[in-house]
Amino acid sequence: MIDAMTLLTERNSAPKLIEPAPGAAVREAIFAAALRAPDHAWLRPWRFLTVEGEARQALGSVLERSLLRREPEADATARERARCAPLRAPLVVVVLARLKAHPKVPPLEQRLSAGCAAHGILLATEAQGYAGIWRTGAAAFDREVVRELGGGEDEEIVAFLYLGSREGKAKRLPAMAVEDFVAPWNGPTQDKETP
Ligand SMILES: Cc1cc2nc3c(=O)[nH]c(=O)nc-3n(C[C@H](O)[C@H](O)[C@H](O)COP(=O)(O)O)c2cc1C
Repeated sequence: MIDAMTLLTERNSAPKLIEPAPGAAVREAIFAAALRAPDHAWLRPWRFLTVEGEARQALGSVLERSLLRREPEADATARERARCAPLRAPLVVVVLARLKAHPKVPPLEQRLSAGCAAHGILLATEAQGYAGIWRTGAAAFDREVVRELGGGEDEEIVAFLYLGSREGKAKRLPAMAVEDFVAPWNGPTQDKETP
């Protein structure tokens, strides 16, 4: 198994995914990793739907209907692209944020927690020799799509995670310098006296 730091620093989304999808035991570990997302007050503000086999076609129809609500004049090519989108991987995991009213945990924190769960899924997928990519697109923000997926008014789509086996080689990772994003902070820029 890949070591943790290599996984964290070299995770690489895979736009092209083929069979096989992660099997039952691998999937169990993937979702167990998701459930370890940081979670203020342990609200568990997430839920996951697995979409595979013919259900991907049904999801494609949901996406096509969403496209037509946004763009009633969408041409056949655009409609087909929407309809076939979920066929780009053998397994699609829909990550839903489930928002609860809480005096100390605002919706943003719950959305971030669901996002961390999605990242956990991608990492655990790659750790076990599979691959994935996080996608959203306009349909993810369409309330009717949430309803058609069986989601409640308190739920939002955070991710469509496309999972499977990587087709081809992983892309070269972009070079990034840590120091471009990290700086020490030593106090407010203007001296402020505490009253
Ligand atoms: C919230 C979120 C939504 C995303 N939506 C899409 C998407 O709809 N389509 C897409 O191609 N990439 C999307 N991405 C980006 C890819 O998942 C991926 O991060 C990107 O291709 C860069 O590859 P890398 O993760 O290997 O650096 C999204 C990422 C995030 C975090």
